[in-house]
Amino acid sequence: MKDVLKKIQEIINNVAKEAYQDTKEEPPPQFGGTPKWPINCTVGPGLEGAIACESKIGYVNGAKGWLVYRGYNIFDLCANSTFEEVSYLLLHGDLPKQTELDQYKKKLFEYSHLNKTLRQLMGFPVEEMSAMGALRLGADLLRQELTSYDRVDDLPKTIDAISSDEDSFAMETPPKGAKHATFEFKIHKSKQRRKRVFARETALESCYHLIAGVSTIIGAVSRIHHSSMPLEPRSDLSFAGNLLYMITGKEPSPVEEKIMDISLILHADHGMNASTFSTMVVASTLADIYFAVGSGIAALSGALHGGANEAVINSLKEIGSVENVKPWVEKRLSKKKKISGFGHRVYKAYDPRARVLGPLADLLVKEKPEFTHLYQVAQELEKTAMAAMGKEKKIFPNVDFYSGIIYTFLGIDDELFTPLFAASRVAGWTSRVFEYVENNRIFRPRAVYIGDFDQKYKSIEKR
Ligand SMILES: CC(C)(COP(=O)(O)OP(=O)(O)OC[C@H]1O[C@@H](n2cnc3c(N)ncnc32)[C@H](O)[C@@H]1OP(=O)(O)O)[C@@H](O)C(=O)NCCC(=O)NCCS
Repeated sequence: MKDVLKKIQEIINNVAKEAYQDTKEEPPPQFGGTPKWPINCTVGPGLEGAIACESKIGYVNGAKGWLVYRGYNIFDLCANSTFEEVSYLLLHGDLPKQTELDQYKKKLFEYSHLNKTLRQLMGFPVEEMSAMGALRLGADLLRQELTSYDRVDDLPKTIDAISSDEDSFAMETPPKGAKHATFEFKIHKSKQRRKRVFARETALESCYHLIAGVSTIIGAVSRIHHSSMPLEPRSDLSFAGNLLYMITGKEPSPVEEKIMDISLILHADHGMNASTFSTMVVASTLADIYFAVGSGIAALSGALHGGANEAVINSLKEIGSVENVKPWVEKRLSKKKKISGFGHRVYKAYDPRARVLGPLADLLVKEKPEFTHLYQVAQELEKTAMAAMGKEKKIFPNVDFYSGIIYTFLGIDDELFTPLFAASRVAGWTSRVFEYVENNRIFRPRAVYIGDFDQKYKSIEKR
């Protein structure tokens, strides 16, 4: 085990050096310090470019290929930490001390036992549901496991809400800007200081519960889809080890366990992506964290968010052989079709997550000779696609190129790839919500009305 960890550490330290070397010419990040609200920014459709809040949780630098959680770069965290430590870091702001980590792990283990939720879940036709559909349902049922959270006296009071819906102003009225925003925050800071929008301890417990619970539900769904009964988590396995064990029914090898752990670390947070934003929007209404995470799962289920890693595996199967890679790529590019697992909206350098997962796939395939052929096709695809689009168009492999390959090597079905994304991202979702509600303001963008104003009302017979 120690040798494995050392080898993996070495691999990650090497890719980190490569990453810094490759982008050292890129200018350093332009941090603006604490922003002064309102911020002037150029906004595109879908809120592209809009700045909605401040955050100390994570930072993505697309030009340099950096991913930073709470000030720590992802390479250091992957080389030296575990998902338990990293999820604690995201939620609490600091890496845990030993006693804190022990306590946190104990809680995660305790909360991974979902007797009531699984009993209820198995009352539904899970075997006929998609894995994401079953996970979404499971997350809703999870809400009832800690029933006190749903008691009326535990719910936040309306008076704690610090922001109004902008519809109270005529839509033509421009936002009042700094004065208006500061006014809202001032009320919060002075009068509401003791009475937090969320009861902090209760919400934290719910975050732990969700981080542990989502994994157990995924394990149960996988087992049910294979006509088996869900498995109890084991106290002798790590979070990643348990997740693999509950999914496959087999105790993972040290390499498998560590690689799953790293994959969980790499997917835990990634800025204001659609699912994170969606959890924050729901939580900003003071809906509880279970509802908020449910919306994150729903957002992730869409093909434009989760799912590209499944498409990568399908492409590799379709290509079929190393010899067929070149003609396949050429045909695809000539038809202006995209190659799944390449390119990224934010990264215009090699995605740091793919940098880590690539060599780990290489390490893992040595334990799994049955996947050598698939892996060779993947390597050839990376080489050919990079030659066609890499340096010139700044299109590199993204995290999804290797995550699906790694999950396949770990014996995980394609349909669980997106749920596994949720198992990790739930740490980011809960952390971002937790941070945001401290200075909550209900999200309320506007639409530009391009419809008519002078329609004459017609009775139903005349329509
Ligand atoms: C992720 C993605 C949506 C980012 O897109 P984007 O930054 O908005 O870039 P665009 O879609 O506007 O594409 C810009 C150019 O790069 C090309 N391009 C981008 N990704 C490409 C890919 N994977 N394969 C081939 N060409 C690609 C586009 O065809 C376009 O070319 P053009 O300028 O000649 O028309 C895009 O790269 C993509 O669809 N990738 C495949 C799906 C995927 O792997 N998704 C997971 C992301 S983590």
